Amino acid sequence: MNQKLPGPNSKKVISKMKKYAYDSTFMYPLVIANGHDCIIEDLDGNRFLDFTSNIGACPIGYSHPDVLEVLAEYSTNGTHKIAGQDFYSKEHADLAETVSAILPRNFKAFFINSGAEAVENAIKIAYRNMGPLPGISCLGAFHGRTLGALSFTFSKPVHKYNFPEFPVKRIKFCTRDDDPEIDAVESLLKENKIAFILTEVVQGEGGYNVASKKFIKNLRRFATQYGVPLILDEVQSGIGHTGKWWAFEHYGVTPDIMSAAKALQVGATFYNKRLEPSERSALSSTWGGGSRIDMAIGARTIQVIKRDRLLENATRMGNILKKGLRELVGKKGVSDARGLGLMIGLEFDTRARREKKIVELFENGLLTLGAGQKSLRIIPPIIITKEQVEKGLEIMIQVLSKN
Ligand SMILES: Cc1ncc(COP(=O)(O)O)c(C=O)c1O
Repeated sequence: MNQKLPGPNSKKVISKMKKYAYDSTFMYPLVIANGHDCIIEDLDGNRFLDFTSNIGACPIGYSHPDVLEVLAEYSTNGTHKIAGQDFYSKEHADLAETVSAILPRNFKAFFINSGAEAVENAIKIAYRNMGPLPGISCLGAFHGRTLGALSFTFSKPVHKYNFPEFPVKRIKFCTRDDDPEIDAVESLLKENKIAFILTEVVQGEGGYNVASKKFIKNLRRFATQYGVPLILDEVQSGIGHTGKWWAFEHYGVTPDIMSAAKALQVGATFYNKRLEPSERSALSSTWGGGSRIDMAIGARTIQVIKRDRLLENATRMGNILKKGLRELVGKKGVSDARGLGLMIGLEFDTRARREKKIVELFENGLLTLGAGQKSLRIIPPIIITKEQVEKGLEIMIQVLSKN
């Protein structure tokens, strides 16, 4: 395809952004105009196969008929944005009920705006119960950019430079059962009073690193033994991309508290009822649970995933994709292909090569994102078809087999 990018309309938007807004983590010159299914269209009519699902935020792709139906219902409702923790709304109750069917038993929900806030509230629930003690988190972790969540984030120094930190103890995120540090958490728990253990199960921003089974089971076991809440951050891995609703289900454990966002359309802290703060206003936020459209789409997304058996699709398509990508390992600087379901990381030998390949894939009509120092993050919408997986693989093979 090799498109001339960005086109003139996109260029105008990008220069306006650079003039008036903070130039944040924008990856390449793509200005999204519309999307259908797994295809994103830019402002100049260029079409791209999307292997990002906007970091998992669009699990059922774009212009999904069910989502369009929800949007149509709200097109004449002028109270879509309310102070959702001052006034009740049906959407709030409906999302809480819908999501409770896929949560561990005895869990309740608190909705907020973002993933970082979901983590903030998870750690606040732990602090309420345990006191203002250090928390444990993992090297390579990403839990968000608000200062509390950021204290437990260790994926890139740029996120933290000159920002103060909450008390934290770090452990290695073990991806192998035979890692010599697999039990390191126990000595920390033995020697210190700790408020919580916080981790992802598949590190997202850190590079799509999949935790070893023993590592997660150990965290669960020692957290229980020492009476410390285990918080699992499912902001990126939750609601279907791994082939299960939550990545922790692959490990046969349940957390005490968890955070979710992206695929759910709103931020959410889920917690075991026994940890619920006893005071009513210990947790709140103006907009949290206040976008009725987002909550309605979140609930509908869960229903669509169930109805259309999309968890099974994520597993099947993920296997095809991983098999194809594994054939690239050992060639042209690709050193590893790993993942759960449709949450797949491809590791390169250098960061420079990773950056170059992301742009070349983009120019050839395939959207991917970076993660960690030198991995490529692949997380397509879970509605993806075999033909689309094969098309994406074809582009990847073509682009990655060149120097
Ligand atoms: C695992 C994890 N936790 C927390 C966050 C923060 O979410 P947000 O960007 O919505 O604040 C992210 C965002 O990528 C994430 O991947």
